[in-house]
Amino acid sequence: MTSSSRSEPRLLFISGSAREKSWNKKLAKLGEKIADANGIAGTFADLGDYPMPIYNGDDELRGGPPENARKLKELMKVHSGIFIASPEYNSSFSPLVKNAIDWVSRTRDDGEAPLEVYKTRVFALGSASPGGMGGLRGLSHLRLVLEIGLGALVLPDQFAVPRAVDAFEENGHLKNKDAQETFKALIQKLARAAHVLHG
Ligand SMILES: Cc1cc2nc3c(=O)[nH]c(=O)nc-3n(C[C@H](O)[C@H](O)[C@H](O)COP(=O)(O)O)c2cc1C
Repeated sequence: MTSSSRSEPRLLFISGSAREKSWNKKLAKLGEKIADANGIAGTFADLGDYPMPIYNGDDELRGGPPENARKLKELMKVHSGIFIASPEYNSSFSPLVKNAIDWVSRTRDDGEAPLEVYKTRVFALGSASPGGMGGLRGLSHLRLVLEIGLGALVLPDQFAVPRAVDAFEENGHLKNKDAQETFKALIQKLARAAHVLHG
């Protein structure tokens, strides 16, 4: 593929919390906003808009993966870089994210290589929490699942928003401008990496 025929990277910002006033939703939305402000096409996705039953192999045998797993995968396919903002629950990442990842991993279209949508996208991780560590500990588990379980490329940088209750301005920006610049740098890096891997 020549460089002139490569498309611009498109980034998907996924909130791993469906809670209406979720801090992680705010973080994912901010990511989309920062991407757009810097000439990178961004899309926000709320996993709450893709409800799926908790994975059960009997359900899968009976009816295959839920339609929302296929829809979510289609959304992932039209983006080359994916940022996931996941809450930390008891030092791990959210079951909502895990269930969505698992179901998407069970969808496979004709001609599609196993786990293709994971292996051909670049991921970056973030979290927001009222706690002092911002949910960082949970991201190591999410990284493990993506990298080891699914063969995905995950950027080493991760972005956490500690004490989230007091971290955001009314307009959704971070009060701490250094932190916002760090997030912007991560998004730009994700776009560059996605462009290199995916074109
Ligand atoms: C079951 C449960 C476990 C939690 N464990 C942690 C934790 O280990 N670390 C942390 O920082 N916050 C923890 N929290 C607090 C969440 O970070 C907080 O509820 C946060 O607002 C959830 O993300 P959201 O705002 O995006 O929905 C936990 C919350 C729940 C419900």
